[in-house]
Amino acid sequence: MRPKDRLIVALDVPSLAEATSLIETLGESVGVYKIGLELLFGGGFALAEELAQKGRAVFVDAKLSDIEATVERATAAIARMGAAFLTVHALDHKTMTAAVRGRGDSALKLLGVTVLTNLAPADLIEQGIDHPLAELGLHRAALAKKAGLDGVIASGHEAAQIRGTTGPDFLIVTPGVRPQGSEVHDQARAVTPRAAIAAGADYLVVGRPITRASDPREAADSIVGEIAAALSR
Ligand code: C5P
Repeated sequence: MRPKDRLIVALDVPSLAEATSLIETLGESVGVYKIGLELLFGGGFALAEELAQKGRAVFVDAKLSDIEATVERATAAIARMGAAFLTVHALDHKTMTAAVRGRGDSALKLLGVTVLTNLAPADLIEQGIDHPLAELGLHRAALAKKAGLDGVIASGHEAAQIRGTTGPDFLIVTPGVRPQGSEVHDQARAVTPRAAIAAGADYLVVGRPITRASDPREAADSIVGEIAAALSR
């Protein structure tokens, strides 16, 4: 995998026109385009399909969670679109194995969402969950692996521990990445690209540091350079 293949750009923009313009600017300088709920509900599925048909790797960040039959069929539909990655909530074995069945023998990689990074311990208690956050994340990562998912979404702060318990072949995809000195926005636990790679992340998800940069292409190239430097250490 080339360093640029590890960079996933989050197309968190409100319109297809803005997404298309960003893709034109970034072109092949990044490996994967991630389309989240906002854009998915605004024509993003068609965009995902179009990109996949052009041979681009597309990440459908649908964060599936439903009864097994629905998750299985939704996953199958996303696999047929030609997506490269799909997120599923890593809450229970039967839902995740339904996604694995839905993916069938396609190349779609399934990533488990362990604990959303906006949740604090008090939010877990509100949900009736009385476990420390980090422990819960590790538990769900183990569940995801057992169910046959390809990897998990994990912050740079948990990546090393997850890597330690799930082994070298389980994918770790890390959002909340901020180059040194760049604005953190609402990411409470941001890490630099270098630190994320050093912690064992396979892929980095980067949104605003690229999409809101005055020169998105330059911002992406600079992050790819940092990934390359971190990998060569
Ligand atoms: O703009 P920024 O780089 O913060 O975007 C990060 C992307 O990663 C967003 O699309 C966000 O939804 C996603 N994400 C995250 N934290 C998670 C899971 C996904 O920031 N735990």
